[in-house]
Amino acid sequence: MKDQKKSGTGNPISRLEGTLKVMGKAKYSSEFAIDNLAFAQGIQSTVAAGKILNIDTAEAEKQDGVIKIITHQNAMKLKGYGGRFESPDTKSISPSLQTTDVHYYGEYIGVVVAETFEQARYAANLVKVTYDKENPKIDFDKHTDELYMPKKINGESHTNTQWGDVDKGMNEAFKTVDVTYNTPIEHHHPMELHNIIATWEGDKVTAYASTQIVAHAVKTIADTFQISEDNVRVITPYVGGGFGSKLQLREHGILGIMAAKMTGRPVQLTVTRHEMFTAVGFRQHNRQHMRLGADKEGVLTAVAHETTAATSVYEEFQEQCGAMTRMLYNTPNSLVTHKLMKLNLPSPRWMRAPGEAPGSFALESAMDELAFKLQMDPAELRIKNDTQHDLSVDKPFSSRQLVECIRIGAKKFDWKNKWNPKPGHTTKENWLVGYGMSASSRQAPYMESSAKISLKLEGEKVFATVQSDATDIGTGSYTIIGQTVAEYLKIPIEQISVELGDSKFPKTPGSGGSWGAASYTNGAKVACDNAFTSLKTLASTSDDLSIAELMKKAKLKEFEAEGTAGPTAEFDKYSVYSFGANFCEVWVDEYSGMIRLEHFVNVGSAGKILNPKTAYGQIIGGITWGIGQALTEHSQIEPNHGNFITRSFADYHVPVNLDLGKIDVIFLPEEDFIANPMGVKGIGELGITSIAAAISNAVFNATGKRVRDLPITPEKIITTPVEVA
Ligand code: MOS
Repeated sequence: MKDQKKSGTGNPISRLEGTLKVMGKAKYSSEFAIDNLAFAQGIQSTVAAGKILNIDTAEAEKQDGVIKIITHQNAMKLKGYGGRFESPDTKSISPSLQTTDVHYYGEYIGVVVAETFEQARYAANLVKVTYDKENPKIDFDKHTDELYMPKKINGESHTNTQWGDVDKGMNEAFKTVDVTYNTPIEHHHPMELHNIIATWEGDKVTAYASTQIVAHAVKTIADTFQISEDNVRVITPYVGGGFGSKLQLREHGILGIMAAKMTGRPVQLTVTRHEMFTAVGFRQHNRQHMRLGADKEGVLTAVAHETTAATSVYEEFQEQCGAMTRMLYNTPNSLVTHKLMKLNLPSPRWMRAPGEAPGSFALESAMDELAFKLQMDPAELRIKNDTQHDLSVDKPFSSRQLVECIRIGAKKFDWKNKWNPKPGHTTKENWLVGYGMSASSRQAPYMESSAKISLKLEGEKVFATVQSDATDIGTGSYTIIGQTVAEYLKIPIEQISVELGDSKFPKTPGSGGSWGAASYTNGAKVACDNAFTSLKTLASTSDDLSIAELMKKAKLKEFEAEGTAGPTAEFDKYSVYSFGANFCEVWVDEYSGMIRLEHFVNVGSAGKILNPKTAYGQIIGGITWGIGQALTEHSQIEPNHGNFITRSFADYHVPVNLDLGKIDVIFLPEEDFIANPMGVKGIGELGITSIAAAISNAVFNATGKRVRDLPITPEKIITTPVEVA
């Protein structure tokens, strides 16, 4: 069927909700008009450690429009953690306003509720707080003697793994690399600020909350307020970017819901851009010690990747920087470790490709350093050490086209003709031209996911509505779910409406960890399959009829079907990852150290590409962020007080269109039916992985200078000495 072919998966159709967004009609969580809405503004601590002695709200309370000021002195009792120090997947949010303890600068220690946002904000500035101040732990370097091994790190990754003997492998090597990389704290800044509108009716609460995982937000609210999950409704039809910062409902969400309960008014609480530097997590500073060895032919003899990072004093979080190092290359001797210290900073959390984004910078830079010492083509070094078996878990990969990604990318880029091992070999006027590459990989998780389909027969046509609590965080969830239903109901996409982001719809794992697309579409497919199966029974036929013919035959005008999909035991027999390769050309100004991105080629192998247009959007978004990681992004902290001093886009720099240059994106044809029945591996995080390394490697190729501490700023280029092989 012609129309269905155009609508089904694999077609580059435009976003179903695109027109709504362009017209400003797609409602984000702060845009729900609720009667009698009051506005809340958080009050933030101005010390990083100690106890609150007193909060004087007298003057603030006298101001126009102020309805209530909530602090630990009058806050509702909430369920907190079982213990103070647990990992952030605990259901309850850290106990907001429940104690006088202060854990970091900028912690919410109160909230003002007023008739308008401006009134709340003004009054919040008049609240006077006195503290019994302690000396905060802020400086990473001063506390390295306090490093310990966490029991758990992110992503169900093991804290430490090893096989063989790395020291032996290093001793046997012809060339070795032993270097340390630092990646700084970085912040995610989705365009849509974090926000909640909360409204209570008796024991029932409705929260319009900007969140990536609806079901998790429901659980968090129910657990924290000790009410039944049935009494919680979370609505978030559109999310303006999350990048991990909205995986959890955060403290501000709890404050908004508490404020609504305590005032008896619907309350909106929006985290300002300034507050987003303390209130919604960030990528932690990672120090990564890499040791690599290879024989004369470039065959790896040892790979060691040891990461140290800092968590907060009240929660434990560590991203799995070494995860990719465990599985990317064939090495007889491997060591991967993770260690943490506790600092008086907000808890670091997930940020796009947690683990891989910083981890790939270390691994893929170190591979480039090794290639340079071997005087070997870095693309060939990767190909030489490829493996089809995941040594870290002793399982085959479900599919792995890393070598193909490298070969095809090299061809598109004309790598063989352009690349030369001698740094600075190509110049254009004042520009040193350099070429760099990297390999990448990201786990492709798949989780249980449900959907409901409601069908209506109108004349000869069936109209379908598909519902799930899936979120569209700007990635294209609406579109790929619609395409899946078009394909499996065999009707044009114009007859399908997709409704997402409401906890009254069937459950999904939400959007995160690159599992959204695979999980959502498999759930929707099963709902379609179930509709056909049930209708065939009702129509008493086994003929291959269309959905409209089946409904007619069954004498039904309306019909509903639900479906749930999820991983089977087969999935666990394999290692399921997406793979990629990056090639880039940079120009470095020989006098100023300024870096220009001239050309980027990205090749991805990520299972079936459900929609090349939205997938392309994901990849260029990831590349853009990787450029920011490589060249500009760095959240700075005042070292005595622990206050983030980068507080706006004026001092936290992200790349804009002019910074990008030409970007080519290639998807390899692949359908991985071990990964899941739709053959999808997910693409949200692959795009940023190894981008910074490709850029850094190109900068080295241009200048002979290896900047191992991101971001690579002009001043670092100028002050770093040239290396010799
Ligand atoms: Mo992603 S960091 O799991 O939203």
